[in-house]
Amino acid sequence: MITPIDFSGKKVLITGAAGFVGSNLMRAVYDAGGEITALDDLFTGDLKNIDNDIKYKFIEGSVTDAELVTKLVKDADYVAHLAARNIIVSTKNPRDDYASNIGGTLNILMAAREAQNVKIVYTSSASVYGNPMHLPISENETPLTFSPYSVSKLAGENYCTAFYETYGVHVSAVRYSNVYGIKQDPSNPYCGVVSKFIEAIANDKVISVHGDGQQTRDFTYVTDTVEATLIALLSPRSDGMVFNVGSGFEVSVLKLADEIGKAFGKEPRIEHIDRRDIDNIRRRVLNIEKIRSRLRWQPRTTLRQGIQRTVEWWRSTR
Ligand SMILES: NC(=O)c1ccc[n+]([C@@H]2O[C@H](COP(=O)([O-])OP(=O)(O)OC[C@H]3O[C@@H](n4cnc5c(N)ncnc54)[C@H](O)[C@@H]3O)[C@@H](O)[C@H]2O)c1
Repeated sequence: MITPIDFSGKKVLITGAAGFVGSNLMRAVYDAGGEITALDDLFTGDLKNIDNDIKYKFIEGSVTDAELVTKLVKDADYVAHLAARNIIVSTKNPRDDYASNIGGTLNILMAAREAQNVKIVYTSSASVYGNPMHLPISENETPLTFSPYSVSKLAGENYCTAFYETYGVHVSAVRYSNVYGIKQDPSNPYCGVVSKFIEAIANDKVISVHGDGQQTRDFTYVTDTVEATLIALLSPRSDGMVFNVGSGFEVSVLKLADEIGKAFGKEPRIEHIDRRDIDNIRRRVLNIEKIRSRLRWQPRTTLRQGIQRTVEWWRSTR
């Protein structure tokens, strides 16, 4: 049976709520009747990402603050744990990543062990797969952590599994592939490739592609990602499990540029520049059978529709 997304009468703590995925998730939880407490240290997040009509309690603070986290988790029925240092920040400062991504997750889990009847979803990343041996990548693929960020995201996941097995904490993890869509701010230096390309093509600028552009990713539209996350949060069938969340389609960076060009009716102009230290993954596409069969979730937005919606949103913000 498909888990209905209904948070009526439930208290939901969202960490990283002011970020790209978090602010979209706020929208969905609020629309589903949830009473929201949002925790964010505003490191990359911005309160302007959160729709004005949403009622929520905002706590400016860090998941590294164990005392604060214990208090907030105790008061929640559900926790969507999204707060994390991103890959660029993490690569520059692995110690900061370690404190937030691993330490922060441990704080959430310790608090949940104490609070008992709370359910958690942890947002992990397909970066834990590194350059995989098999495509599409299933959850059984051996992780290859090629960056400090992927180390911390996998460590967070492992803590989730351990806390489920050892203490019976109700927790599941979702491994996102590249998420794109509305509220992914192109002016944010850490934003994803879709937003960067939209900004460049719209302004008739040359797109800078790191490497040959044949590297592939699995681009997932944010409302699909949010829906998968909330189903994993609500379903008792997700406890102790890890799920891929992706589109299941492999798209090269050049093809992505072409699709965004089409949305603007323009031919993208491309220059190839050197790879960055974080560009060490050649191909990525996720096998989403596990979440499809166990939680009955599947993506609903095609790349073309997702780009169209993102471009419309981008225009509305100009
Ligand atoms: N966007 C993607 O493509 C993608 C892919 C894989 C995994 N993820 C995961 O999804 C989650 C959300 O990512 P996003 O793209 O929305 O990133 P984001 O940077 O937009 O959001 C992260 C939010 O967490 C907050 N934050 C960071 N450290 C914190 C701390 N110590 N305490 C409290 N808040 C803190 C930031 O201020 C920000 O609002 C992250 O856990 C990320 O690792 C995202």
